[in-house]
Amino acid sequence: MEKEIQKVKSVKGCLRVPSDKSISHRSIILTSMANGISSVKNFLRAGDTLTTLNVYRKLGIKITEDKEVIKVHGNGVNGFSEPEDILDMGNSGTTTRLTLGILSGQRFFSALTGDESLRKRPMKRVALPLKQMNAKIDGRENGGLLPLCVRGSDLKGINFFNEKASAQVKSALLIAGLIAEGETKVIEPYKSRDHTEKMLKAMGANIQIDEQNEYTVCIRKTDKLFPIEIDVPADPSSAAFFAAAAVILPDSELVLKDVLINPTRDGFFRKIKQMGAYIEYTNKRKINEEPVADIIIRYSPELKAVQVSKEEIPSMVDEIPILAVVATQAEGDTVITGASELRVKESDRIKAVVENLRNVGVEVEELQDGMVIRGKSKIKGGYVDSFKDHRIAMAFSILGLVSEKGIKIKDADCAYISYPEFFEHLQSVVIK
Ligand code: S3P
Repeated sequence: MEKEIQKVKSVKGCLRVPSDKSISHRSIILTSMANGISSVKNFLRAGDTLTTLNVYRKLGIKITEDKEVIKVHGNGVNGFSEPEDILDMGNSGTTTRLTLGILSGQRFFSALTGDESLRKRPMKRVALPLKQMNAKIDGRENGGLLPLCVRGSDLKGINFFNEKASAQVKSALLIAGLIAEGETKVIEPYKSRDHTEKMLKAMGANIQIDEQNEYTVCIRKTDKLFPIEIDVPADPSSAAFFAAAAVILPDSELVLKDVLINPTRDGFFRKIKQMGAYIEYTNKRKINEEPVADIIIRYSPELKAVQVSKEEIPSMVDEIPILAVVATQAEGDTVITGASELRVKESDRIKAVVENLRNVGVEVEELQDGMVIRGKSKIKGGYVDSFKDHRIAMAFSILGLVSEKGIKIKDADCAYISYPEFFEHLQSVVIK
């Protein structure tokens, strides 16, 4: 489905954007390993997280739903059953990589595949360390690409340096570490999102976090995990689109409710503040050990260009496309480097952002590991491709709001992967 977004005057109002995708995935994956029934309030019902829900049902986990609450009937760390068919991971890298951690240590055979985008995404980063733990994983390119198959086996703990600071890799290894003999240690150069550690800790796992020198997490075999009650806060990655709209549109003010502000996730908000954006965290509180706030954000006419470097990327890894959109409206050259991971997301996001920005009239230079965006730029508008990537579709919709002749987005319905109500929410806050 194509979508056209026209110039508007401003955005105003209050929104509770959908729940956090990372925590929603984990609220099923991790609780499925508990001994007993966990409950999940405010679970994100979107493409990727519904994939997780379906996959875990196929692995024999009873999951019941009423309007408000999802109940996950965990059967223990080894309580899954052999799926009758190939597991379809859809578009979801998180489901695939975390689930590989579970499947590697079960007593059965399983096979996994995904959509055209997921089948191109690198799985070696998780298959290799899992194989060091004695996992039996095979597939295209020696177990590097989906479809993959797993023959469950007895795992042993390893020490692993997570060079790319990938939370998906870290989480897969921590999950495998729950079943493995001995200790599993994951060391990171920069801290990646830590929802897995927090949730496992709450469930009573044998896990320790050491932040003294490097970022190190240790986990030991845990036979019994307690069920928990989870309330999922709003997703900062989804909130970022609306925050961006408020910052670049004259006269705007938005209140974004219940947003997760975990420091491993709120890098985008800190960065736009550094650019000169008016942004305020109010009503700060904790939900399930996760910091949450209502965010007030206003039009900020004097935005300045910034630099984004490698160590800052993990806390804003999914927000680079929307940060690039904000950078078009800031004075000077914004330089983003150290972001080569963006090339292996749902699309090659460096290429997608650069091509699309050029198509709508922005001067931009492509770097191997990032981009340089020249601001302040008039957005002429035109036609862009989402490359079926939800975050590209939503980022360029926001840019359309400040464009002279509107922006038409190819395959914009892929927003469904993380934010099914995106276009309705956008409609509800724009003032024409
Ligand atoms: C995620 C981790 C990040 C992020 C993805 C979700 C997670 O990926 O880009 O959207 O939930 O663990 P990497 O682990 O590859 O950095």
